Amino acid sequence: MNGSKSPRSFVSNHIAELPKSGIRAFFDLVSQMDDVISLGVGEPDFTTPWTIRESGIYSIERGRTSYTSNLGMPALRKAICQYVEKNYSVRYSSKDECIVTVGVSEAVDLVIRAITSPGDEIIYSEPCYVSYPSEIRMAHGVPVPVTTRKENLFALDPADVEKAVTPRTKAILINFPCNPTGAVMDRARLEAIADIAKRHDLLVLSDEIYSELTYDTEHTSIASLPGMKERTVFLHGFSKAFAMTGWRVGYACGPAEIIDAMMKIHQYSIMCAPTMAQSAALEALQNGSNEMVKMRSSYRARRDFFVRKLNEAGLYCHIPQGAFYAFCEVGHLGLSCEEFAERLLQEQHVAIVPGTAFGPGGKGFCRCSYATGMDELEEAAKRIAVFVKKLKSQA
Ligand SMILES: Cc1ncc(COP(=O)(O)O)c(C=O)c1O
Repeated sequence: MNGSKSPRSFVSNHIAELPKSGIRAFFDLVSQMDDVISLGVGEPDFTTPWTIRESGIYSIERGRTSYTSNLGMPALRKAICQYVEKNYSVRYSSKDECIVTVGVSEAVDLVIRAITSPGDEIIYSEPCYVSYPSEIRMAHGVPVPVTTRKENLFALDPADVEKAVTPRTKAILINFPCNPTGAVMDRARLEAIADIAKRHDLLVLSDEIYSELTYDTEHTSIASLPGMKERTVFLHGFSKAFAMTGWRVGYACGPAEIIDAMMKIHQYSIMCAPTMAQSAALEALQNGSNEMVKMRSSYRARRDFFVRKLNEAGLYCHIPQGAFYAFCEVGHLGLSCEEFAERLLQEQHVAIVPGTAFGPGGKGFCRCSYATGMDELEEAAKRIAVFVKKLKSQA
């Protein structure tokens, strides 16, 4: 109508205040350039193994195109509980202690929303996966970062966690093997975190999406430690180990009361994970382990090659024990990590992610994904070496 005022902003204050993911902005820039080797995205370069794809196709072909139970297909829930018991030594009931979600992303979001009352604090290790602090804020909780350090190979120090606990703390969110650092947690450290959780009556949310991709040690789930099953929500999915990012299937296992609360949100917002993707996920659990082991060996070989090359070039990098990221130090070269990543992109056309995209604790580091073909890794390593040499000669 003539003379009408322009509308006010309808976006809620707490969403307006959320920052956008730093990774997205960077990759918008990358997409406008040619000849870029991207070590930026956090996903496998493998296509989903064929038998898994075939199961998804078969499901469609058989006309299985309707909703499943809100909790997920009973056969898939059963297979998940068997897989978790076999590989993580925790026994869950597929009836009421397991929910299938749209990627582990949804599981993380559901559990945070299910447990957070306004003002509740959630401790998490940082640098971390970009979503955690924003998801906590979206649930009107207070994100409480605990910085992990190079001296500890980026494992979470229980003493730092203890210091962060207050009467408002509700939960500790951990992710090991870690995105972006590749760090893992040994059993002793996990026991110390478990002890804190028990003493302060806290819940642990454990995002173990990279757990199959653990290279030199055995992965331990905090849920398997004595007295922890009842105060842990185990979060996992198919994206990384089975190269299934686009299928969008994940899951959570935990105490029935919490799974039920998560189910309410899931039921009203999502209904169920895609039916054909659930069929594919079932095949992954039943017959996908050989392919998964092959992919893991390949990541390990690439890790060994690429981390050696980074160190030879003068970008100090610990050997990441899990996931598929090298988290290398660039701070000593006289540029901030943002400047380093930006100039590497402009001058050598290699895309990596500045550590601060994963929180202030990532300052001085950059994340390189080695879930990238060996030829590209070789070329990227050469270009990085040229760039670092140039920086050193200018110093
Ligand atoms: C630590 C972590 N959690 C969750 C996710 C999301 O996984 P999904 O594809 O299962 O939603 C990622 C993806 O990069 C991740 O790195």
